[in-house]
Amino acid sequence: MIKKLLLSLVVIILVFISWFTWYNLKSDDPMTVITELPSDVQPKYDSSDDWWKSTTVYQIYPRSYYDSDGDGIGDLAGIIQKLDYIDSIGFETIWISPFFQSPQEDHGYDIANFREIDPEYGDLELADSLIAEVHRRDMRIVFDMVLNHTSDQHEWFLESKSSRDNPKSDWYVWRDGKKDAPPNNWKNIVGQESAWKYNEARDQWYYAAFLPFQPDLNMRNPEVKAAVFDMARFWLDRGVDGFRLDIFNFIFEDEQLRDNPFTFRYLPDFDNRKWLFRNHLYNFHQPEVIAYAKELRKVLEDYQEEKFMVGEVFGSHHHMRELLGMESHDGLNLVFLFDIVEEFEFSADFFRSKLSEFEAAYPKPLAPTYVFGNHDQPRILSRVNNDPEKHEVLATFQYTARGVPFTYMGEEIGMHSGDIPFEEAQDPLASYWVDLPELIRENSPIFNRDNCRTPMQWNSEANAGFTTGPDTWLPVEKHYKEINVAKSEADRSSLLHLYRDIIHLRNSHPALQTGDLELITEDALPDNILAYHRQSPEEKLLILLNFSEKEALIDAQRLNLPSETLYARRAQSDGKNLTLGGFGIAIYRLP
Ligand code: GLC
Ligand code: MG
Repeated sequence: MIKKLLLSLVVIILVFISWFTWYNLKSDDPMTVITELPSDVQPKYDSSDDWWKSTTVYQIYPRSYYDSDGDGIGDLAGIIQKLDYIDSIGFETIWISPFFQSPQEDHGYDIANFREIDPEYGDLELADSLIAEVHRRDMRIVFDMVLNHTSDQHEWFLESKSSRDNPKSDWYVWRDGKKDAPPNNWKNIVGQESAWKYNEARDQWYYAAFLPFQPDLNMRNPEVKAAVFDMARFWLDRGVDGFRLDIFNFIFEDEQLRDNPFTFRYLPDFDNRKWLFRNHLYNFHQPEVIAYAKELRKVLEDYQEEKFMVGEVFGSHHHMRELLGMESHDGLNLVFLFDIVEEFEFSADFFRSKLSEFEAAYPKPLAPTYVFGNHDQPRILSRVNNDPEKHEVLATFQYTARGVPFTYMGEEIGMHSGDIPFEEAQDPLASYWVDLPELIRENSPIFNRDNCRTPMQWNSEANAGFTTGPDTWLPVEKHYKEINVAKSEADRSSLLHLYRDIIHLRNSHPALQTGDLELITEDALPDNILAYHRQSPEEKLLILLNFSEKEALIDAQRLNLPSETLYARRAQSDGKNLTLGGFGIAIYRLP
């Protein structure tokens, strides 16, 4: 009897474990949530003068780009000195992470004054000359706007927290607690910590979705919305060409602040908003954010010059399409698609499936934005076993696929992720995770973000030429003597030259900028080869990428390949056959 009971218990436990694993690993089929665009809808913004649809973007983390005054911290004057370099690669637009006044607890993503430049980076006059210098080169500049929260040192917050009845008392999300407990069960980004912080002066709690020193603004208050829109106009008036919007779909919370329900889902699955045993129904992607995106778009459209917004957002394709304005295309202009870094696999199959998924979910006039990295993500090289040839394949893919490509500074020379330990991190997130077991840290998306923020490597000299001073705010990554701009410039076979060649190719071929994309599933091609057409009224191009180290023999006649390539690495053709070497790249213009 006992034996039977025990046996059934074991069976029940085993069944539960299997179900739990399956439930956590399963990913909702993204195609099921795609709503088809009705074909008779005339897109509002499908005009060729939407410059941002064919642009290329270079992201600068200003603290680590170039230090002009020797204090070990990059600055705006340093960026101005490097504009010719960025221009020479062919990037049209630069997006700069925040450099506004800030206590720098999250290195600028904690803003204390949206209209002032932090003295570490420069001043208003310098910001104006940066904008002018960018425009003088026919380039564009995009600022990083954090609208979800401010620093707890912002004067709005200092006033708001001082009493329950000051003029700004309702500018942040304040609530009474339940006895000694926070108003509800919402957790902040760290996962296990309440998102509510107690304040004695008000005997109330404030909400902070990210970290406690970043209180969330109350965007339901019309005064807050007006103040934020005015701030956007302040910069648009000065000539800024657009905004990158920080954690945009965290801006609104449920008005009734309902508890988030429990879920068995532990592993993050942004598609169905469940992670860490919590279904984030009420503090993420609330319906109000969609109307808000449209209002912000109107602010930008008041300008004669075309401006654009790209959202750092998370969620299903359906969420994304809502933020883009669905059929009327009057919301955000672009959204980051983090799927690539979240699910990354270096294989032709993976990119084939992502391509078809994104093509179906973001058909023209929409444009996908594949994310390969940024100031929060491990470096590209660390995703491909530090193999630069694999990096070349990915860069070629990114700049020949449809959509607006973004490259994070340093990726163009193939910088490595740093190896700064959690114990020595300056990243505020790292301090929350430092005590977690190594095993968990290494097998989860948890990452010390310092390791992608090490100083830009300009040359083989001291401090990689990043500063004239003796110190750098983060240690320079150890490969700087081999991997730096000066060396890459001198070596025609470098990754930098590949980026430059492919971006110039893109800039001179409308088919690559805004042409249609058609995936090729040709039996004659080996599985490891990713192949697609890009086609505009003027021309049709063919891109072939070998995702394996194995050489592939391709029947050139069958594919109707001309004898000359537009661009190639590790590829050779004798007219009859194309030999695509391991990680080989070939781009053709078809007759
Ligand atoms: C975004 C930024 C990140 C920052 C956070 C809080 O995710 O990319 O760097 O720490 O928002 O503003
Ligand atoms: Mg400096």
